[in-house]
Amino acid sequence: MSLAHAKPVDDDPSLFEPLFELIANDVIDKGHSIRPYALPENLTSLLLQHITELPKENFKRAGIGRAKEHTINDFIRTDEICWITGNSHAGNAWIKWAVALQNYLNKRLFLGLFSFESHFSHYAKGDFYKKHKDAFRGEDNRVLSLVVYLNPNWSADDGGELVIYPAYSSSSIIVEHSKITVTPNFGTIVVFLSEEFPHEVLPALRDRYAIAGWFRLNTSIANNIDPPR
Ligand code: OGA
Ligand code: MN
Repeated sequence: MSLAHAKPVDDDPSLFEPLFELIANDVIDKGHSIRPYALPENLTSLLLQHITELPKENFKRAGIGRAKEHTINDFIRTDEICWITGNSHAGNAWIKWAVALQNYLNKRLFLGLFSFESHFSHYAKGDFYKKHKDAFRGEDNRVLSLVVYLNPNWSADDGGELVIYPAYSSSSIIVEHSKITVTPNFGTIVVFLSEEFPHEVLPALRDRYAIAGWFRLNTSIANNIDPPR
């Protein structure tokens, strides 16, 4: 794959609609969608090129919790992250794609998604993120999680799988075989309801690059501005 010759990323959101339709149907049926190698290749290449060119200092140890409760915890996660802004060509193209997905899902699912935030993540050899949920009922306004992977030629020996556990009801019947394991391969897209699915990242055995993002509801009201991350 030649990154230097990556073609321009298409701007017209209607080109993505067949994929958005598949994702919307999966979310309606199951609450999650896993689409291997589905992100447009031009966009995936652009993002990979960008992430590998970002200065190392831009990546900071990821914490857990928001604002005042934000802490670094080596037992829970060890990856490094860099929040994505629209200031770079790649970041801008990514946000455009994600917002086109947001608009499509709002039309189809009436989720009322209002904003999108995302970061690059880098797991070095041995890094992991223990089982967690991205949002808790009544506590946060993250509705839908979106993860895409930027790793060409990931093999079964490279670890770093995303494991998604079943959303269980109050009766807590856990069906072991409904655990889903996702290989973090180039262009694979994962979408799931943030409050419903616990998930974890198994230790990566080589550098692992991904983007994690969240579509949120607007819960800012008058003097109660949304807490900073
Ligand atoms: C996260 C997360 C999953 C992955 O950043 O919250 O769960 O596969 N990431 O990188
Ligand atoms: Mn997560």
